[in-house]
Amino acid sequence: MCGIVGFVGQGNTKDILLSGLLRLEYRGYDSAGIALYSHPFTVVKSVGKLEELKKKVIASKECVFPCSMGIGHTRWATHGKADEKNSHPHLSMNKEVVLVHNGIIENFVDLKNFLQEKGYSFYSETDTEIAVNLIEYFYLKEKNILKTLFLVQKELKGSYALAIMFEGDANTLYAMRKDSPLIVGKGENSFYIASDISAFLDYTNEIYVLENKEILSLSENEIHIYNKNKEEIKRSSTIANLDQSRIHKGEYLHFMEKEIFEQPHAVKDTLLYACGKENDDFSYEAFSMSERDFKDIRRVRIIACGSAYHVGYVLKSVCESLARVPVQVELASEFRYNHPILEDGELVISISQSGETADTLAAVKEAKKFGAKTLSIVNVKGSAIAEESDFVFYTQAGPEIAVATTKAYSCQLVAGYIFSILLAKAKGKIKDEETHSLRDELFLLPGKIQQCLSLDGEILPMAKKLKDSDDIFFLGRGLDWAISMEGALKLKEISYIHCESYSSGELKHGTISLIEKDSPVIALLSQEELAGKSISNIHEVKSRGAKCFALTMENISIDENDFVQNLSVPSTHPLFAGSLLVVPLQFLSYQVSLLKGLDPDKPRNLAKSVTVE
Ligand code: F6R
Repeated sequence: MCGIVGFVGQGNTKDILLSGLLRLEYRGYDSAGIALYSHPFTVVKSVGKLEELKKKVIASKECVFPCSMGIGHTRWATHGKADEKNSHPHLSMNKEVVLVHNGIIENFVDLKNFLQEKGYSFYSETDTEIAVNLIEYFYLKEKNILKTLFLVQKELKGSYALAIMFEGDANTLYAMRKDSPLIVGKGENSFYIASDISAFLDYTNEIYVLENKEILSLSENEIHIYNKNKEEIKRSSTIANLDQSRIHKGEYLHFMEKEIFEQPHAVKDTLLYACGKENDDFSYEAFSMSERDFKDIRRVRIIACGSAYHVGYVLKSVCESLARVPVQVELASEFRYNHPILEDGELVISISQSGETADTLAAVKEAKKFGAKTLSIVNVKGSAIAEESDFVFYTQAGPEIAVATTKAYSCQLVAGYIFSILLAKAKGKIKDEETHSLRDELFLLPGKIQQCLSLDGEILPMAKKLKDSDDIFFLGRGLDWAISMEGALKLKEISYIHCESYSSGELKHGTISLIEKDSPVIALLSQEELAGKSISNIHEVKSRGAKCFALTMENISIDENDFVQNLSVPSTHPLFAGSLLVVPLQFLSYQVSLLKGLDPDKPRNLAKSVTVE
């Protein structure tokens, strides 16, 4: 949610900032802006997608001059609507300081009152404008930039990654962070900073990760990092093992399509991460835990948001079935306010692609206050949630850029399966033989997901039949219900069609009154022992006029006459069926979005990393 970039050194600053922002657009696309170092600062902002900013920068007379330092921002509006005055970069009242911000300053009202008493006035509704003026206030008083930033660090509450330029320092770019990500890239006679490495991966893969509450100064050839005790710390750079093709669309029309197709690879990499080699056993260490840690687990609490929350429901089924350990799933945004009761031996698992979702991060912190052990399943290395947790498992999806998650969700499922198998093994609920056969079945998943990818031709006719619907109902029982939640979310978020998932058995307790002639219903049928009951529920809606579509695992037999169309995925262990069912559901959403002329990568009102509560 909001992306920031910065550059200092020898290079085309303006182009570097714009290309960086293009890579970060997934973090927000309400408005964008850049500031270039000049006297006074050159600031260009624009509402809407980055294309609009580009046009303005090209037309700007000030932007033609060479310049060796600048900052940029792409916004998902939180404080104040998405207009130009609220867009970043923000300038301080006396134009001494300009900055871009990702995060939320929670005590901005108090700070605003303080600054108003000191004579400051404000042009925007943002919390960021308070931060830039606070910096200017201390800077004019202290006349020392580092001292100023340490003072500001003490005052700011909430989360922030800030990239800052001072009018009085033509050669140095400053940055600081707390709970929002910031990565530094080292180029030739230059440095880059960004919310995400993809912003500068076209230029360098030599990086420094700025840790929480650190302050950074960068000039053409120098990097200085200070910890919260104001001590300078020496840190070596590392080479990021990420090739550029991972952040480009390549032959695909959209990142979402590319990421759907990357799933076999991503799932296989996640499986290998958990065991090292195909024939090796899954290791407790992949979760940075010991066998003892697993044995000590008496209950599991899963906290997550959105699609990751849906993974929680799959994990509940799989874990309870294999390990017989009770699992409770909670929305991270509700967890803190539900007066949580955490028992001895309860492991709190957070699931997050970005590792920076504010609600999930806050829930992890809350769980730790109760003394619970915390494990995070995250995709982004070194992210705030991973740093905050006692244990971490890194899914190997690689960069996920489309706002709607696909491959990260699939990797989270697999991480959940592996966790459940290890827990069952540690608890003595499954023998070595079963552990191996489950592992072997999991290693067949990438090939079967590949087979599901060839269903795209069959999905298009279904998408055509559904694209003009106002409401679509998803039905399932047990694991099928858990997967149908994800199917409904995926379709609604990128097609803007109202979709809901209902447990098949619950339907007749109210929802069935919504069913009328031609109401579209998508029924998921992968669980053999539940199929008969689910089919009865399908008959109930069909007899009330519903148009039913089926998504089945191939071993389930249905009467094709009950359905307008049936899509069938290869057979697997029933506990792992979700990994296959979800692929056609993702495709269906993608196709409907395209048929409606929408941009599936950037659905309206959304951003990928939700760093506000
Ligand atoms: C839906 C989607 C979101 C995320 C949710 C959590 O397609 O992507 O629902 O799953 O915002 O995000 P992470 O996983 O980054 O914590």
